Amino acid sequence: MRIDILTLFPDTVGAVLHESILGRAAKKGIVEINCIQIRDFTENKQKQVDDYPYGGGFGCVMMAQPLKSCLDHVMESAEGLRSRVIYLSPQGRPYTQETAKRLRRDYDHLVLVCGHYEGVDERFIEACVDEEISLGDFVLTGGEIAAMAVADSVCRLVPGVLADEQCYTGESHWDGLLEYPQYTRPESWEGRAVPEILLNGDHARIERWRRKEQLRRTRDKRPDMFAAFEPQSDEDRALLKELEKERGRKQLTEPVSCRAAVSGDIPRILEITEDARAGLRRFHIDQWQGAYPDAARFLEDIRLGQCFVLEHAGDTAGFFVLSTEPQPEYDAITDGRWSAELPYCTLHRAAIAKEYRGSGASGALIRCAEEQARAFGRKYIRVDTHRKNKPMQTLLRESGYRYRGNILVDSEPGHDPHRQAFEKILKDKK
Ligand SMILES: C[S@@+](CC[C@H](N)C(=O)[O-])C[C@H]1O[C@@H](n2cnc3c(N)ncnc32)[C@H](O)[C@@H]1O
Repeated sequence: MRIDILTLFPDTVGAVLHESILGRAAKKGIVEINCIQIRDFTENKQKQVDDYPYGGGFGCVMMAQPLKSCLDHVMESAEGLRSRVIYLSPQGRPYTQETAKRLRRDYDHLVLVCGHYEGVDERFIEACVDEEISLGDFVLTGGEIAAMAVADSVCRLVPGVLADEQCYTGESHWDGLLEYPQYTRPESWEGRAVPEILLNGDHARIERWRRKEQLRRTRDKRPDMFAAFEPQSDEDRALLKELEKERGRKQLTEPVSCRAAVSGDIPRILEITEDARAGLRRFHIDQWQGAYPDAARFLEDIRLGQCFVLEHAGDTAGFFVLSTEPQPEYDAITDGRWSAELPYCTLHRAAIAKEYRGSGASGALIRCAEEQARAFGRKYIRVDTHRKNKPMQTLLRESGYRYRGNILVDSEPGHDPHRQAFEKILKDKK
């Protein structure tokens, strides 16, 4: 692969590209990188390469003639080569690993033209350039950094430049994924250990772990790439399923505590409410499918001192509302009756953040609500839930609540008003 870089700064570019891996590859004759001074091809005494733009405006524009003469010079010795003239430009197509692969595969001679100042005369681009490449959606002072990036990334794909083909086929962007995390000695550094699996010498398990980490970090760091990724094997599909199951799930690593909510908790409470709303919708439960409960409702709960948030490791894991006022609709219970006529607390709006589902946080919420009821001086809790809300009914039963009958609530128009009523008489603490 031969690369000719047309630049106003050949020494700077050459100093970078003739070092290290590419420098050694050039010495072995595997790649050839030439940096050519555009200024040497001017036809004026002052060796001027740029001039003011027609029509006015800031800065100067590189003239077409020195660029064309410089290009003609490099093409004189390129006969028989598959050449490609590339202008590095913020207006080009964004550069990717796929572009590097294509350039390496389809050409054996790249001419990289570096602009400077305000850019180059458009007529040179029209007449001489095959393709424009951008390093990204930002503007550099000159094309040199972009040219170095293209030259480096293409040359390292040339056989013999790196020790093994696997050096690049396993890397980020090769097959639409990012690379897995890498570690080297020592095994423990500043209290951080290398993942155990990498130390046991079981290569099949290590490969599987690495593939899963590739999938995980592409999903987490580059959702755009992940969305375009097609699983390449049954193992990929199995790993993706595993990741989906693990997704965002939090474990209860320390005890859950509860405190009275303040108005600053409202955004998180609403976020949890929206997730719960979506969850209910998925189960075709029309509870919470209108505006209720909204910020005004929760602000009122907070003002009354009835709203509580669950805290876990500095995170808000859920919330509940517990009131001490009697609920008139509970007096009209049907298909059963309450077992006691004691002063009670009612557990109302309650939800657990979606990342805490399955972690045991729901049970913790019920226990926190019971603690709070005791703090209110009540040992009797009543609660109702939508007749289709099986997960809540199961949670209540598992937490020692007994189904007592059915009630009707004041639901939004068109929504099912039927609720199942549960109660629990709290035992005295030993
Ligand atoms: C200041 S820029 C000129 C930008 C030009 N006036 C425009 O707005 O499109 C000077 C030179 O830097 C190079 N350059 C700037 N940003 C680049 C990018 N994102 N990718 C590749 N080359 C870039 C080009 O060669 C360009 O001619």
